[in-house]
Amino acid sequence: LEHVSRTTFAQLMNSPLLSIRPTSATDILTIQALAHRTWPHTFGGILSAEQITYMLEWMYSPAALEDQMARGHQFFLAQTPGGEPLGYASWQDLGGARARLHKIYVVPEAQGTGAGRALMEAVETAARAAGCTALELNVNRENRAADFYERGGFQTVRTKDIDIGNGYWMNDWVMEKALG
Ligand SMILES: CC(C)(COP(=O)(O)OP(=O)(O)OC[C@H]1O[C@@H](n2cnc3c(N)ncnc32)[C@H](O)[C@@H]1OP(=O)(O)O)[C@@H](O)C(=O)NCCC(=O)NCCS
Repeated sequence: LEHVSRTTFAQLMNSPLLSIRPTSATDILTIQALAHRTWPHTFGGILSAEQITYMLEWMYSPAALEDQMARGHQFFLAQTPGGEPLGYASWQDLGGARARLHKIYVVPEAQGTGAGRALMEAVETAARAAGCTALELNVNRENRAADFYERGGFQTVRTKDIDIGNGYWMNDWVMEKALG
């Protein structure tokens, strides 16, 4: 992946050949590796290195990912035609026609190429099929991804500061979108 230029990626991603597929337990190490490639790039200017390490262990250890899947988080992987993974998303049916986007991450080299949009579409399609009429998410207030979500039709509904232990906090916006 590192050898492929950004232009090549852009061409690839603009082709209809980028594919999205649901994952299974056999993809857990792939998801973990993608997170470890993407998180320092995303949060390096926002969170301390120690907090990034803490959160990666908390949310992306194989045991944590297995537990999320067992609790109904559905994961999707974006991949190249050759099967190279580019990113992942996960969501959950919360009941009461509400859905929650838990994760959406594309490796730095493939950002801005449509992979995130394709993952979001997969989540929205699955949530609609489950009868959900609203999709909510949390995003760090300093993360540029908030602009991506706004572009995709989400609106900020409130702020939320969450104590995640060890003196660490998540300072988020809660955003929401109606699923028409
Ligand atoms: C956020 C993320 C998933 C978006 O995926 P992506 O593949 O980079 O975005 P896409 O190429 O699919 O872009 C879709 C649309 O959003 C726009 N967009 C993407 N990133 C944007 C940004 N930071 N600001 C404004 N618009 C943005 C694109 O221009 C495009 O608009 P268009 O409809 O006019 O073409 C990806 O950039 C990423 O993984 N970022 C780091 C991880 C992260 O922050 N995840 C979210 C944690 S809450």
